Amino acid sequence: MANIVVVGVQWGDEGKGKVVDFLSERFDVVARYQGGNNAGHTVVVGEDKIVLHLIPSGVLRKGKVCVLGNGVVIDLGELIQEMDQLERLHVKFEDHFFISRRSHLVLPYHKLLDVAHEQRATKKIGTTGRGIGPAYVDKMARVGIRIGDLHQPALFRERLSQNLAEKRAQYPESRALASLEPDRLFHDHLKHYERVRTFLTDASLVLDRLMTEGKRVLFEGAQGTLLDVDLGTYPYVTSSSATAGGACTGTGVSPKRIDGVLGICKAYTTRVGEGPFPTELLDQVGDRIRERGAEFGATTGRPRRTGWFDAVGVRYAARVNGLDALALMKLDVLDGLETIQMCTGYRYRGELLTEFPGEADVLAECQPVYESLPGWKESTVGIVEEGRLPANCRAYLRHLEALAGVPLALISTGPRRDQTIVRSGALLKNWGLASDQQ
Ligand code: IMP
Repeated sequence: MANIVVVGVQWGDEGKGKVVDFLSERFDVVARYQGGNNAGHTVVVGEDKIVLHLIPSGVLRKGKVCVLGNGVVIDLGELIQEMDQLERLHVKFEDHFFISRRSHLVLPYHKLLDVAHEQRATKKIGTTGRGIGPAYVDKMARVGIRIGDLHQPALFRERLSQNLAEKRAQYPESRALASLEPDRLFHDHLKHYERVRTFLTDASLVLDRLMTEGKRVLFEGAQGTLLDVDLGTYPYVTSSSATAGGACTGTGVSPKRIDGVLGICKAYTTRVGEGPFPTELLDQVGDRIRERGAEFGATTGRPRRTGWFDAVGVRYAARVNGLDALALMKLDVLDGLETIQMCTGYRYRGELLTEFPGEADVLAECQPVYESLPGWKESTVGIVEEGRLPANCRAYLRHLEALAGVPLALISTGPRRDQTIVRSGALLKNWGLASDQQ
């Protein structure tokens, strides 16, 4: 039996949604462990396209259990909107959707604080403006409100008023904060609570019981390794533990229960928001990748910054997450390029760096050292057999795999579930994700 963590190895948006959707057929449970509605992926249900920000897309598959762990921060209004949208599409939640009572709430004042903070800051982060950072600040400062606290209305009301008064004092210039009405917040949230109350539980216990029964859990990370609050390009990061370690603290599951870690990365790199990005392309090739790869944020619609594959960052991610394998996404976006570059090291003040630096200001000064590989003219869209890929593309994959130091288990050649090359290999078989025939 294998429980695995699926984690982004770049700056998010690697295509985790497609991989989780692809793999969830072979798992019984999908558990999210961090982040909030700053994440987002588009899913297609029949004729309808919807964007899910909080609920794992596994909810769309009949019989799968979905869990929001204690490490997730929840904007209840948004969660309910997502649930309503899914219910209109006949998705059922009863008995297979669980929310940790320990997860913290993102309240309307957190969103206003995100904006107020960015307005004041000299170094902007370029947040998604969803209140995620301020909600985690409150959690760490031990003044946060957990979703389970809503069962004590009087206490909830008191904390709400106290927190709001403190935020107002902190940002006296914010008129939006001044005009928030605590009574309204209180009543709205009690109404929201009634809607979700039956889904609240001790998620750690539920997961433990399911695993003991032999059910398989896929732990779904949001954002990516380089956005992790500890291990990412701090301070240009999100405020949670996006790396594989977060799966344990964010769900209350022991590391001993986790059997493998699958990293997701694109055949190139993207980043949204501010912060260093050594392989960024500010030319027509960058524009072409953005257009072909539809690199616009699912949450904010912002155009994503684009650049070449960075093996230094991926090797770093392989180390800190303990990656067993990689899923390489959006290979087809590189079709038709004359030459493809891969970053193998950084030049920093005359020195060659082969390890990812821990300081954002050092990374900002790093110049990428590239190896050039010939591109391929043919389309790879929808190819499912590796042998059918153009020779140059196969050479590119071999080189990428060697540079990353991690085997490629899945290669994605298009947005659809079936546009995926599944590599045979002991690892996937061990995890029960591939048969001998594959
Ligand atoms: P926050 O998570 O909204 O606080 O934003 C902090 C940084 O993380 C910003 O640079 C965002 O653009 C980035 N970020 C947050 N969520 C995602 C995501 O799901 N994909 C890519 N970038 C993200």
